[in-house]
Amino acid sequence: MNNDHYNIDKDTNSYNNLEGQFSWRSPSNIALVKYWGKKAVQLPLNPSISFTLNHAHTTTSVSYQKRPSSNDWLTFRFEGKEETFFGKRVQSFLESLTDIFPFIELLQFEIDSENSFPHSSGIASSASSMSAIALCLCSIEEVISNQKQNKEEFLKKASFVARLGSGSACRSVYPSLAIWGNAKDITLSDDHIAIPHQDYAPIYQDYHDDIIIISGEKKSVSSTAGHKLMDSNPFADTRYEQARNNLQHLLVALKNGDLDKFIDTVEEEALTLHALMMCSRPSYTLMKPNTLAAIERIRDYRLRKHVPIAFTLDAGPNIHVLYPHQYVSEVKDFIKEELMPLTESNQIIEDQVGPGPIKLS
Ligand code: PMV
Repeated sequence: MNNDHYNIDKDTNSYNNLEGQFSWRSPSNIALVKYWGKKAVQLPLNPSISFTLNHAHTTTSVSYQKRPSSNDWLTFRFEGKEETFFGKRVQSFLESLTDIFPFIELLQFEIDSENSFPHSSGIASSASSMSAIALCLCSIEEVISNQKQNKEEFLKKASFVARLGSGSACRSVYPSLAIWGNAKDITLSDDHIAIPHQDYAPIYQDYHDDIIIISGEKKSVSSTAGHKLMDSNPFADTRYEQARNNLQHLLVALKNGDLDKFIDTVEEEALTLHALMMCSRPSYTLMKPNTLAAIERIRDYRLRKHVPIAFTLDAGPNIHVLYPHQYVSEVKDFIKEELMPLTESNQIIEDQVGPGPIKLS
């Protein structure tokens, strides 16, 4: 597959039903092997794999009708209020998609979006919000071109489109686990789309991810700038090699339910991501002192109690505590007693591996 794959030369005269509305709820995802470093239009320099979350999601409704001649063809509202900052990003995203969806130029859109997680939590919403928009666009295409696709093709296209909005968003369209990027021995893996990964032990099916909000502050360096700094990072090639190897290790750990291997790999990935930030030029840190304190407490608790909990991190200071469902009661106690005092305002998002996006209308 390549970027021309979905560039369809369509006769827009055949369109009908140029008025309607679609809503999708799409989840966030947490990478276990991280995508960090890209080329061209959001193509990854190494393969990644993520858990699809359940409770952290974005609900997006897209209403559309025939575009009048005016220039104002997009209204974007976040939690009921018009939002120009993210609205501009959505506008450029839609403008970049006219080869794939020629109908965009014929329509006027009203987009309403809301997140299930608090605005101030520092949780990146681009994966859930861009995938939700991509899914709505694919639904609109089906109706106005009167061509229903099978579910697999529909999700493939949604993944392709979501990737163009925000790389990691392409993984959010699938349930449970998704792999994005060319990976050794994974036949259908592809840099342009994510694919669902189903070869995992039952223990991962309802794995927990409790997100401890150490700080809800806006990031000092965006993901876009972070990816860019990988271009001159002296460890970049070694990193891409490490990620490829870590994906292979993790696939074995997922298949066999090998929690020790899972923990080692996932934690190495989280710390490598942040180490790469620290050795970029200019260098930066996104972890806070309490991020490190939480990591130490998690490792200490694991050793003391023999409970297989692990941490991972996104590009930010917040800690994702990963553990199997059977340990839920003791881990919740540990989090309450030892990790909550490290949070800024007692914020936690209690999540789990989930079933993927849901069409609401
Ligand atoms: O999708 P982006 O450009 O926001 O990058 C996401 C990068 C990480 O969240 C740090 C890792 C990943 O694979 O999701």
